Amino acid sequence: MVKIAHISDLHFGRTNPAALTALTQALDAAEPDITVITGDLTQSGRRREFAEAAAFLGTLKSRFLAVPGNHDAPVYNLGLRFFKPWARYETHIGDASIQRLALGPLSLVGVNSARRAQPRLNWSYGRLSKSVIKAASAIAREEQDAGRQVFLALHHPVTLGPGKAGSRIVSNGEQALQAFAENGVSAILTGHVHVASAAPIAATDDRILSIQAGTALSTRERGEQPSFGLIDAGDDQIRLSIKRLADGRFEPEGEQAFTRKAGVWRPAA
Ligand SMILES: [Fe+2]
Ligand SMILES: [Fe+2]
Repeated sequence: MVKIAHISDLHFGRTNPAALTALTQALDAAEPDITVITGDLTQSGRRREFAEAAAFLGTLKSRFLAVPGNHDAPVYNLGLRFFKPWARYETHIGDASIQRLALGPLSLVGVNSARRAQPRLNWSYGRLSKSVIKAASAIAREEQDAGRQVFLALHHPVTLGPGKAGSRIVSNGEQALQAFAENGVSAILTGHVHVASAAPIAATDDRILSIQAGTALSTRERGEQPSFGLIDAGDDQIRLSIKRLADGRFEPEGEQAFTRKAGVWRPAA
């Protein structure tokens, strides 16, 4: 089993200080093999916010894989936003393009679904271009052929989640899901909607599991208290434990387990 701490939507610049202390303690106690951060590390893409996010990442005892979110392209510096949207992110956090990280039997592929601008009113929505879908699918195929289970990490949900979590999915999501399922992706880790959930994706005939993290630190909870997920990933089984902030500590809220038979995920009995 590989143990993943899945944290998301940290929104440094607008964090809850009590949650930050509690999160550091909870991650230390969990001792994950890797921490995956699915975007929105900052609130507005300010330098100071990135520095705070980088300082937090420096406290992690595990290695980490991070992908940018829509809040990580500078909001107030339009020159940077249009011409070098990921320059600050790459200076402070790391690679903002496609990433691949193998961890024993598991391969993590990080994808940037955030955009500096789009031909629609709301630029917070995500998009996966055809070239990104193709590149991520090619990596997934290689990793699957090498005998590894492939998890994708990106900021924007590619499928409808429960309740308000599902109102906005990434552009080209259906096309992406088809390609990812055909090329052996078995789970997709996302954030953005600040609501935790996990379920097999019907549009992939349940061949891909969607795991959405809530916000780990933000004061923009949209009705949910900060939370993060601990994922134990084995060959054909995934166990997810949600930890939620209560009285200054992240406490276990519940567990979900899924098993995979003939490539299809089902809730474990
Ligand atoms: Fe967010
Ligand atoms: Fe977001």
